[in-house]
Amino acid sequence: MAFNNVFKDKKVVITGDTGFKGSWLSTWLLMLGAKVYGYANEIPTTPSMFEVTGLDKRINHQYGDIRDKEKMNNFIQEVKPDFIFHLAAQAIVSTSYKDPFNTITTNVVGTASVLEAIRNITWNCTCVIITSDKAYDNVEWIWGYRENDRLGGKDVYSGSKGAAELVIKSYWMSFIKDMPNIKLAVTRAGNVIGGGDWAKDRIIVDCVKAFSEGKTVEIRCPKATRPWQHVLEPLSGYLNVAQYLYEGKVANGEAFNFGPRAEQTKTVFELTQDLAEKWGLDRNNAAKITGNIPFREATLLKLNCDKALAYLNWHSTLHYEQCVDLIAEWYKAYYVEKRNDLHELTKKQIEFYMEQAKKQNIEWSK
Ligand SMILES: NC(=O)c1ccc[n+]([C@@H]2O[C@H](COP(=O)([O-])OP(=O)(O)OC[C@H]3O[C@@H](n4cnc5c(N)ncnc54)[C@H](O)[C@@H]3O)[C@@H](O)[C@H]2O)c1
Repeated sequence: MAFNNVFKDKKVVITGDTGFKGSWLSTWLLMLGAKVYGYANEIPTTPSMFEVTGLDKRINHQYGDIRDKEKMNNFIQEVKPDFIFHLAAQAIVSTSYKDPFNTITTNVVGTASVLEAIRNITWNCTCVIITSDKAYDNVEWIWGYRENDRLGGKDVYSGSKGAAELVIKSYWMSFIKDMPNIKLAVTRAGNVIGGGDWAKDRIIVDCVKAFSEGKTVEIRCPKATRPWQHVLEPLSGYLNVAQYLYEGKVANGEAFNFGPRAEQTKTVFELTQDLAEKWGLDRNNAAKITGNIPFREATLLKLNCDKALAYLNWHSTLHYEQCVDLIAEWYKAYYVEKRNDLHELTKKQIEFYMEQAKKQNIEWSK
């Protein structure tokens, strides 16, 4: 009975349900007995997890732009959700260099439009707004960022996430904190990896595409470290914070970081080699370093997750090896075994994740 069964038979809106995280979250919520209502402007990739797992037939999806304030509001008023998870965003750093304006309007104005819809809610609703670890002003120090560290962003994607945070805070202070029917939290997580991601310029996608064609993968920043975590880790945090808000167990209007174990801070090169090995390839011939860095990416960004541990009893579940195993299993099922039951495989991986959390006595999994 994960998450104290609070999602059973509840109406849950997910903005960005057609994306990578949105597809995993939709699947998990279906397993928890929720009625899932998705809202997104498009299916962002071909192939997509949304389509290959048949989510289009399993949830109620509405196409719409989050910047369309009236349409967004009408959708929320029609569904009357018990929970909202706002994930829709222009989430790709390289795209933010090509189309900064669209990134800013989607991530900042789009978030304001969702907050406008929340302002108009007259029933009880618990809202989780997803931003990013990139919302922090990255000063490239070695310490993990805490929820009260300075926000900012030197590139447009990061700046749009920092700006979204300011918008959320001002809506919270000006309106939402005085609405007794609304509970709201902000969540920040870093790079996530997992099966079913086909977004561009993400290392796992580049690897599995290359490996499935018998090629070596080209990597541009081999020494860059990322706090890699499986997509289910932050999703367990989002669901956990929603549960605790709903049950009144955690303060309203706060931000929470969700990050991986320290051991998971591996270089891009190490991750590529480890994945190649799980794919059955020679780890020493898995990657070619191009040194061709097409855009600036900050190299060091770690989250401090003490707050999630203290208030939610949340910590990450998987070890790095388990995370790589799950990813290899999912993409091999798609590319090598050409399985058509990827919804079942995704559910099996979520079951596995919940079992691992239970073994570690993590509060939400009991
Ligand atoms: N994937 C990561 O590593 C990562 C890391 C930190 C934070 N995040 C954040 O998590 C959230 C989800 O990320 P993801 O990886 O699933 O992204 P994604 O690119 O896979 O999906 C984005 C979703 O948003 C939708 N969308 C984009 N613009 C829209 C618009 N104008 N109107 C309506 N819908 C729109 C897309 O259709 C899609 O459903 C985003 O807020 C992202 O910034 C992701």
